[in-house]
Amino acid sequence: MKDSFGREINYLRISVTDRCNFDCLYCSHPVEMLPRERVLRFEDIVVLVQAAKELGIKKVRLTGGEPLLRRDIDKLVAMLHELDVTVHTTTNGFMLARLAEPLKEAGLDGLNVSLDFVDAEKFRQITGGGDLATVVQGIDKALEVGLPVKLNAVFTTMHETKDLKELLNFGKERNLPIRFIELMPKNLGSFSSLFRPIGDAQSMIESFTQLRPVGTNAVSGGPAEYYLTDDGVEVGFIGFFSLNQCKQCNRIRVTSSGAIYPCLLRNVKVEAFESIKQGKEATKEALLKAVSIKPVAGNPEEVGPDMSEIGG
Ligand code: GTP
Ligand code: 5AD
Ligand code: SF4
Repeated sequence: MKDSFGREINYLRISVTDRCNFDCLYCSHPVEMLPRERVLRFEDIVVLVQAAKELGIKKVRLTGGEPLLRRDIDKLVAMLHELDVTVHTTTNGFMLARLAEPLKEAGLDGLNVSLDFVDAEKFRQITGGGDLATVVQGIDKALEVGLPVKLNAVFTTMHETKDLKELLNFGKERNLPIRFIELMPKNLGSFSSLFRPIGDAQSMIESFTQLRPVGTNAVSGGPAEYYLTDDGVEVGFIGFFSLNQCKQCNRIRVTSSGAIYPCLLRNVKVEAFESIKQGKEATKEALLKAVSIKPVAGNPEEVGPDMSEIGG
């Protein structure tokens, strides 16, 4: 399906829970959870993806909160895999050591894991108490069972050149691409002092390696600009202010309570919970409505959905 600016929309991000077991400094995930009856059930998510698929969606990404906290998430992955779409997830990795194998068996196509530091103390600080070793075990388990992994590091004022070097070494050792993400400051509140433009990450990295541009992520239509280091590590940069990839945006998002957001950086949505409950045809209408009002570009100053509600 095409939006009103001619962009092909083929990628659907679905948040399956607003809960999380981390408390990242830059994330405002809610203390109060949604009541269970307002959260889409697996059957509803299947209807949503069936409808989306008929409209041209080819790739689904399950997000959170922390998506692996949703009970029986591997069963949902298996149900969606049956529908012949590719299924990915973006996770903090804490539950991966246990879940990598069942997820692979369910047909998961790949994982993006958030890894802001490979320094255990800084990792603990930024995630509000997260244990680095557990996440690394999870990443290694995922690789062992054959799941493709990409790393996401949110870039902050806590990062020194040494931290970026360590992250790239981690990527090199395991042959993993790594993307550095600019903080979306609107959700930060008292943590706005963590914000630092993504261009600084690039210059810090260029102090110890050349970066050879390999273009934007044209294939997946993602927001990253990619480079290769001297060591052959693939590094991407995702910006909210500095870089803007809206022209090639291919995605829409659905929250765990069924609100469709056509843009991460705009406060525009279609409440589709009831439509999804009504069935596939009503869901298609809601999806088409959301795509028809997809704005030409995001506005980082506008208060859109919470990152924890929408999963990035
Ligand atoms: P791929 O499908 O592997 O390309 O991943 P992805 O980048 O779509 O997904 P992921 O969940 O790993 O997101 C990485 C970061 O990119 C998160 O911080 C997202 O908020 C951010 N991001 C995702 N979509 C957009 C977008 O449309 N615009 C901008 N500026 N950032 C986005
Ligand atoms: N700004 C930028 N990225 C964020 N993420 C979570 N909150 C923010 C924020 N305020 C990232 C996570 C994860 C991805 C889905 O979004 O680290 O990798
Ligand atoms: Fe949890 Fe992700 Fe928010 Fe961190 S950024 S607290 S891992 S939802």
